[in-house]
Amino acid sequence: MSFTQDELKKQVAYAAIDYVKSGIIGVGTGSTANYFIDALSEIKNKIDGAVASSETTAERLRSHGIEVFDLNDINGMDIYVDGADEITEHMHMLKGGGGALTREKIVAANAKEFICICDESKYVPILGKFPLPIEVLPMAKSYVARELTKLGGQPQLRDFTTDNGNLILDVHELKIKDPIEMEIKINQIVGVVTNGLFAVRPANILLLATSDGVKTIKKDA
Ligand code: A5P
Repeated sequence: MSFTQDELKKQVAYAAIDYVKSGIIGVGTGSTANYFIDALSEIKNKIDGAVASSETTAERLRSHGIEVFDLNDINGMDIYVDGADEITEHMHMLKGGGGALTREKIVAANAKEFICICDESKYVPILGKFPLPIEVLPMAKSYVARELTKLGGQPQLRDFTTDNGNLILDVHELKIKDPIEMEIKINQIVGVVTNGLFAVRPANILLLATSDGVKTIKKDA
């Protein structure tokens, strides 16, 4: 049976509900995460609420009657559920297509488990076909762009302001052979707030929607 990409996103978002037990849930940003929020609203009495990785997600959670907590008011959470633009078999992800990468990384860092929900088009052998988003402080954009060019990338300024009031450079043509090394290297450029590589802290569980159903892939399985 063949499904549209949107149907696959919805299926995988609903599959993630099996991992929701109680307490406070970390919630990502994007179209797949939006389906997860819709699914979460159907079991909202089981949980205390959520921490949002963007203003858009916070708004959607509230519109479904799910309480949104400030990350500083809670003591971590069991799970963070989010999509990705690309993910490898090593659970390294490339994220930030929606521009929410910094808050996503912060909320994810506070969760015991990162559950990545994707349709099969996001499962790739090597990261970097999707341009790598980098959040930069506005005054540093030209400097950071020059440094990224030295790494072999072609940065393009996105017409977008993040929830944190910063800018996004989308880096094309970057050869990401070692995602952990590249994540660390880019974070060391002065003026970079966060880059969209999620490899130092990879996903723990990948729920992958395929035409044969939702597959579960676990890190170190
Ligand atoms: C948001 O900034 C991104 O990291 C998203 O998680 C990513 O772009 C996936 O989005 P979709 O679920 O819309 O494909």
